[in-house]
Amino acid sequence: MRKPFVAGNWKMNTNGQTSVQLAKRIAEGSAETAGHDVTVAVCPPFVYLQAVTKALSSSSIAVGAQDIYFEPDGAFTGEISPAMLKDTGCTYCLCGHSERRHVIGETDELINKKVAAAISGGLLPILCVGELLSERQASKTNEVITRQLKQGLAGLSAAKLSAVTIAYEPVWAIGTGVTATPEQAQEAHDFIRTLVGRMYNGQVAEEIRILYGGSVKPGNAAELMNCKDIDGLLVGGASLKADDFLAIIQATV
Ligand code: PGA
Repeated sequence: MRKPFVAGNWKMNTNGQTSVQLAKRIAEGSAETAGHDVTVAVCPPFVYLQAVTKALSSSSIAVGAQDIYFEPDGAFTGEISPAMLKDTGCTYCLCGHSERRHVIGETDELINKKVAAAISGGLLPILCVGELLSERQASKTNEVITRQLKQGLAGLSAAKLSAVTIAYEPVWAIGTGVTATPEQAQEAHDFIRTLVGRMYNGQVAEEIRILYGGSVKPGNAAELMNCKDIDGLLVGGASLKADDFLAIIQATV
């Protein structure tokens, strides 16, 4: 049985005060689901990681970074290393989020280095994949996911894959209010699990957690979670409202 996993991606939102307030409200509210077997993580902006980790220290909520750099140190202005993230108390790290791919211009090759560096640095990467609307319309969804997964996971052994979570986030559903239907999401998740099985083995495919992301809200979380291959949710906008995020966590248990 795969344990449900809900992660909140705060993106470039909150400030020093509101990041801590939001973390504390989520920690207080999630005490109700504490008895349930669910992994919960929040991914604040880099500069608030330490404060949020501190605010969550007596809770079971983990903290993740929204990005990482693959080099251990050196002249890489503006970048943050795996060891620095570990230092702040991070457990998880998003790699290849669609905004990094399509706004910042990250390539599959760079994302692969980030995933590998995260694992070597003792972090648990969440590798994000997903197609653009034009790619879906051109029936290229599976082709895009295959490329992103094969290149994103290149060189990683089956043993290392146990550190990885995959997030399927169709780009057309992110921040648009348009959610993939449970059927569309399940189809993509099934495809991803089958592909992981072909790339590694059946056991790895059974064990890996695949999250859905893209306009997840309290009102659609339960129906998405009812899908056989959806193991959790990566939540953007709705993770900035404690009540909504808590309701989404509740829907997964
Ligand atoms: P959204 O973002 O929930 O606001 O669509 C999801 C994400 O980008 O991870």
